[in-house]
Amino acid sequence: MQLNDSPITTHTFEGIEFFLKRDDLLHPQFSGNKARKFMSLLQNEQPQIKTVISYGSPQANSLYSLAALCALKSWTLEFYVDRIPNWLRDKPMGNYRGALELGAKIIAVNNQTSHPTQFIQHIRCPDSSCIVLEEGGREQQAQIGIKELAEEIRGWVYSQANKNVVVALPSGTGTTSAYLEHFLKPHKIDVITCPCVGGRDYLVEQIRSLEIQCLPQILQLKNKHHFGKLYYNDYKIWAALLEQTQVEFDLLYDPMMWQCLLDWYPRNADKSVLYIHQGGVLGNESMLPRYLRKFGSFKP
Ligand SMILES: Cc1ncc(COP(=O)(O)O)c(C=O)c1O
Repeated sequence: MQLNDSPITTHTFEGIEFFLKRDDLLHPQFSGNKARKFMSLLQNEQPQIKTVISYGSPQANSLYSLAALCALKSWTLEFYVDRIPNWLRDKPMGNYRGALELGAKIIAVNNQTSHPTQFIQHIRCPDSSCIVLEEGGREQQAQIGIKELAEEIRGWVYSQANKNVVVALPSGTGTTSAYLEHFLKPHKIDVITCPCVGGRDYLVEQIRSLEIQCLPQILQLKNKHHFGKLYYNDYKIWAALLEQTQVEFDLLYDPMMWQCLLDWYPRNADKSVLYIHQGGVLGNESMLPRYLRKFGSFKP
């Protein structure tokens, strides 16, 4: 199965004209940066594999994407989480709901051990029929799919009259932005990002753990920003993006990157921004009701 060549569309946001790489459209279920990170698993024939094992939050984008991958490959997904909150168990929504519908086994390890990784290693004890994946797809093999994304970007940049293109995308583990930087740097295409989880130091540590030597340019907000916390500014930007571009962005990562970009752009107005849409919109199914409860519906 070949999933690539996502379209690039043109938009304007707050007066900034930008290009958007629609990786959210790669496949109805297996899309965004998870599709790129897990692409090699989709494409390689591995008849001995029966089960994929990973861990993270019960609302993680990676949970849903891995469930989609396993459905496409007729594998079983075992996804270990610390705990499943009662409200989510009672009324499944977002990535949790989507993954359950795709047949994922979501297993809470509470009371049994201190962390899902220890449970997987010492109690589950995976054998050769299993693939064990790091949280959020922070894996060196992710570079195979991200290289393909970089190739598509490079081809597009070369076809443009204005070559002063900067690739922008928010980071969690930094896997996507750092591998993009690695593959695009030789072509003199810059990559900029922001640390959505745990700040700049944590992002650099995550990238170094993949043994990637180069770093994308890391933009930061003036104020501390906690992952998963609700911020009025994020909500405002997300709603304005939807209104001005007619494209739904994710509520966890994209609003922070756009805040950074709005600050960065006036000093870099000679550059053309190519923003990577990394998917994750199913997560809005649980984020949006939280925002609506806290701030009401947003009127631009
Ligand atoms: C929608 C979305 N954007 C950005 C990221 C951050 O990606 P990375 O962990 O590769 O930095 C993720 C997580 O994979 C994501 O789901």
